[in-house]
Amino acid sequence: MITEYTTIPTDFATLVDKAKEMTRNSYAPYSNFRVGAAVLMSDGSVATGANQENAAYGDSICAERVALLFATANHPELKPVAIAIAAYSNGKFTEDYISPCGSCRQVISEMENRFDCSIKIIMYGSSKTCIADTIKDLLPLTFGENSLK
Ligand code: THU
Repeated sequence: MITEYTTIPTDFATLVDKAKEMTRNSYAPYSNFRVGAAVLMSDGSVATGANQENAAYGDSICAERVALLFATANHPELKPVAIAIAAYSNGKFTEDYISPCGSCRQVISEMENRFDCSIKIIMYGSSKTCIADTIKDLLPLTFGENSLK
């Protein structure tokens, strides 16, 4: 299910704050679009990331993948439970929430399959926040491990 909120549900307020804080660590000299992400893990710990751009634009990496891949590389024993995403541009947090790009959706999908879990995707915007309960809401007809059998 995908739900929009005008105020952030209290359960995820701290995680959203961490994603917002992480926009400060973005390296985005080309787009000036600063994205932060925070991943809540099954033990309550949080892994964070920010987009990291490159002069070879295609080698830039989104905040979501930085956070998720750091999390599972360092803690393969922990399941990701939720990911919060925030973006800062033109001197303020974006009013509209941003949703993960196609590559990040594919990576989140792999994680749901790998850990046999659902990952809530909390997309922050200063005027409204959106929560998807699972990547299946954002990426139907996924290509995954079963497709290779
Ligand atoms: N970006 C993210 O980090 N996450 C998203 O969900 C969308 C886009 C980054 C990629 C690039 O560094 C900048 O935002 C502009 O596209």
